[in-house]
Amino acid sequence: MATLALRGGAAVRTAPFPAWPVWGEEEIENLAAVIRSGKWGPLNGQRTAEFEQRFAKYQHARYGQCVNSGTTALRLALMAAGVDSGDEVIVPAYTFIASASAVIEMGAIPVFADIEAGSYNIDLASAESAVSSRTSAIMPVHFAGRPADMDGVTALAEKHRLRVVEDAAQAWGAEWRGKRVGALGDAGCFSFQSSKNINAGEGGIILTNDDGIAKMMRSHANCGRSEDGEWYEHFYFGGNARMTEFQSAVLLAQLDRYESQWARRRDNLSYLNEKLWTLTGVEPLADDSRITRHACHLYIFRYNADSFAGAPKGKFIEALSAEGIPASPGYTLPLYRQPVFLNKAFGPRGKTVDLPIDYGTFSCPETERACREQALWLTQNVLLGERRDMDDILTAIDKIANSAHELAG
Ligand SMILES: Cc1ncc(COP(=O)(O)O)c(C=O)c1O
Repeated sequence: MATLALRGGAAVRTAPFPAWPVWGEEEIENLAAVIRSGKWGPLNGQRTAEFEQRFAKYQHARYGQCVNSGTTALRLALMAAGVDSGDEVIVPAYTFIASASAVIEMGAIPVFADIEAGSYNIDLASAESAVSSRTSAIMPVHFAGRPADMDGVTALAEKHRLRVVEDAAQAWGAEWRGKRVGALGDAGCFSFQSSKNINAGEGGIILTNDDGIAKMMRSHANCGRSEDGEWYEHFYFGGNARMTEFQSAVLLAQLDRYESQWARRRDNLSYLNEKLWTLTGVEPLADDSRITRHACHLYIFRYNADSFAGAPKGKFIEALSAEGIPASPGYTLPLYRQPVFLNKAFGPRGKTVDLPIDYGTFSCPETERACREQALWLTQNVLLGERRDMDDILTAIDKIANSAHELAG
């Protein structure tokens, strides 16, 4: 039995995994062209419009509106879909804060639903039990790049007359039964922030197939203007949420490179899924044949402490890291346990806001289990490695399982 690197043994690997971001001459040339053109914003430049069209088409959607972040995209999509202040919006408890903070920002109330153990996406029974007379929308999150059950979400939304705003911040190219996410509901939102598989430092886009939502998302993102109005005519509420031409220049190059990167990530994700079943104490998420394409933003697997001498998840991560494998515990708290929700500190300078909801009474057991005990993440740059890099991950897990007694203390 090999001594764990955590206890002074030789590490499985010392070489780093691929760095992120990946860029080349294309990004540099596109950026230089924008600088030389003197057209640095989307009001007179053409690249943002070009990217909006290309990305919408790529996601099987009719309309796209670029904005300055995924969070802004979610807020403006909710507004454009007609969600009103005081309305309730159902959001999974296992997601990034932005899924819920976008709801708060527009004056609505996030109500949390649990996730399914097999997919880590929204649990529809839990979502249905969260519906009230004030619920006007549901926000499925395609967590890790894996589409949520959009058949179930659509049926639930039709039954309760809810709007569907997809949080596809991690799901570029993901497909549910052959159709790409983003415009499967009323609107969908993507992020281009630095850690994302398509990256411009920051940025986001809203997609929709609906003419009315398209008109409103453009207006909300552009100072309430109308496409056929005058420059200083403002018809609706709206600030400046526009993205720059610099970001679009980078995004066009990133999109060109995306398919080949995706194929590498997909092969590695499938390989890890297949091999992980043969190891003790860890398992991949469940297969679902309705997912025809996973965006492979994160590789998620589940940890079972019983097979590791009862060692908590954090200790296993430490041991993996010592072996040269960078795993993350992921979201460490369900959103309803974040101090900002417990204290309802949504006002200026952290002032408590009077909301008719008590986040302290929420309990979503699968979310709690994922946060505290089970969920382990590998980030998308790890999935850009070679097959032998994936083998190192499997070897390290196996080594730790075989020497689990060394994890104690
Ligand atoms: C699930 C999810 N939703 C929303 C966002 C917000 O995107 P951004 O960081 O671009 O505002 C992110 C990004 O971090 C995310 O992972």
